[in-house]
Amino acid sequence: MEITNKQIADYTESFTTEEPDIIKELVKASDEDLEYIDMLSGRQTGMLLKLLVAISGARRILEVGTFTGYSAMMMADALPDDGELITCEMNERYRKISEPFFEREPYCSKIRQKMGNALEIIPKLDGTFDLIFLDADKVNYPAYYRLAKEKIKPGGLIVVDNVLWGGDVLNQNNRKAEAIHKMNEIIRDDHEAEQLMLPLRDGVMIVKVKS
Ligand SMILES: C[S@@+](CC[C@H](N)C(=O)[O-])C[C@H]1O[C@@H](n2cnc3c(N)ncnc32)[C@H](O)[C@@H]1O
Repeated sequence: MEITNKQIADYTESFTTEEPDIIKELVKASDEDLEYIDMLSGRQTGMLLKLLVAISGARRILEVGTFTGYSAMMMADALPDDGELITCEMNERYRKISEPFFEREPYCSKIRQKMGNALEIIPKLDGTFDLIFLDADKVNYPAYYRLAKEKIKPGGLIVVDNVLWGGDVLNQNNRKAEAIHKMNEIIRDDHEAEQLMLPLRDGVMIVKVKS
């Protein structure tokens, strides 16, 4: 199911700021190397993340699910020079595409990639984060939300992509939709947080943890 009418989706995207050239270059490199790049969050979600980083003044970000680096670079663009973004990915093929981009200025001083299973990496990370973006394997979304709650600063933001899963959350007829729906319920019932679910692209949840 398309969440948004295609013409409206195209119209709203055409009124959203374009990515900087280096990120357009990353999209092109990803497209040339891979059969599908539909996992890439895209301009509107990317711009939403970038604005959230800028408005909140986030200085330390955790991303779960790098793919080829699109959302990491969008968020890093809004970080101050001494800001830090840690991003987790388990697929070496995707790392080979993101690495040469992460090595360029200003990303090299801001982005640190951790390779491996995010479920094992997150508990070992030191300190807390101002913003955490969840975008890895959907069956583990409830577990990622619980881990994010342990690592988020009071007053911080947790943003989750694909919370509508193409509309499948309505009848939960597959494991991924079931897990996403379960996480959506956990977030709705979380009295330590306020949340907004947006029907943007495949659904984005913005959670503000209480200060
Ligand atoms: C939807 S994509 C991320 C898209 C990216 N945030 C963007 O906007 O371009 C999800 C990524 O999570 C990675 N992934 C899935 N399960 C993972 C896990 N347990 N640990 C680390 N990465 C994982 C996948 O390999 C994939 O690259």
